[in-house]
Amino acid sequence: MTYSRQDYNQAVEQIRLKTDLQPTVGLVLGSGLGSLADTLENRVAIPYAEIPGWPLSTVHGHSGQLVIGYLEGQVVAAQQGRAHFYEGYTMQQVTFPIRVMHALGVNTVILTNAAGGLNKNYHVGDLMLLNDHINFVGMAGSNPLVGPNDDSVGPRFLGMAQTYDRDLRQLAHQAADQVGITLHEGVYVCLAGPNFETPAEIRMLRGMGADAVGMSTAHEVIVARHAGMRVMACSGITNECIDQVDSELEANHEEVLEAGKVLVPRLTAILRGVLRTL
Ligand code: HPA
Repeated sequence: MTYSRQDYNQAVEQIRLKTDLQPTVGLVLGSGLGSLADTLENRVAIPYAEIPGWPLSTVHGHSGQLVIGYLEGQVVAAQQGRAHFYEGYTMQQVTFPIRVMHALGVNTVILTNAAGGLNKNYHVGDLMLLNDHINFVGMAGSNPLVGPNDDSVGPRFLGMAQTYDRDLRQLAHQAADQVGITLHEGVYVCLAGPNFETPAEIRMLRGMGADAVGMSTAHEVIVARHAGMRVMACSGITNECIDQVDSELEANHEEVLEAGKVLVPRLTAILRGVLRTL
């Protein structure tokens, strides 16, 4: 399934019927991290089901609405929950919301996700700013840019050396320092899921140089960069990665959502700090 500019514009028209605000910053809020959108001022919430073409999230912990309002003086469009490839959507469907945000006038996208900590120095409740990623799903063929390329949006062959904006990363570190929050910086690896990784897979991912593992973000980042938007992304470390067979421990979705409660205030402080200085 491929979308055309007409599909993005139709979604934008529907959104504009609900609000006159013109967002320039897009936020994507991952598993258990959606409550930040409830703090936007003068907000309008539009259920994804009311936006033509928008994929619905079926996952517990993803509430499924686009919230538009003010945060630290910026007009923000926040995706409260996202759809995933493992729900059966194509990469084109999963990244449709990023294209719609671009068509809406967004030029800076800040993505968040829940991730397992591969780096042994990371603990549950820590935050990791992405400075790079390994798109395992894309490398295996499911890349959102596969298919006809609209040259008026972006290039056929996208360079990826300057993906996670250096200035935004610097702002995030400043914001974290100001409130005394530890902010790691590292490499995110995106897998399809939905199962968590085997111990052998964890050891392999670590060996490849990845610091955190999750099931989202990389493909959204690719589409955002393809359209020329500035990108920042931050992982909330929600669980330890189990790297030995027969461990008593097992990663699970409940601990992912539970860790979200600790992560939200930390992430909120950093995102507010970044938006304030944008
Ligand atoms: N693995 C993959 N995705 C995840 C994890 C994990 O351990 N935690 C949260 N999302």
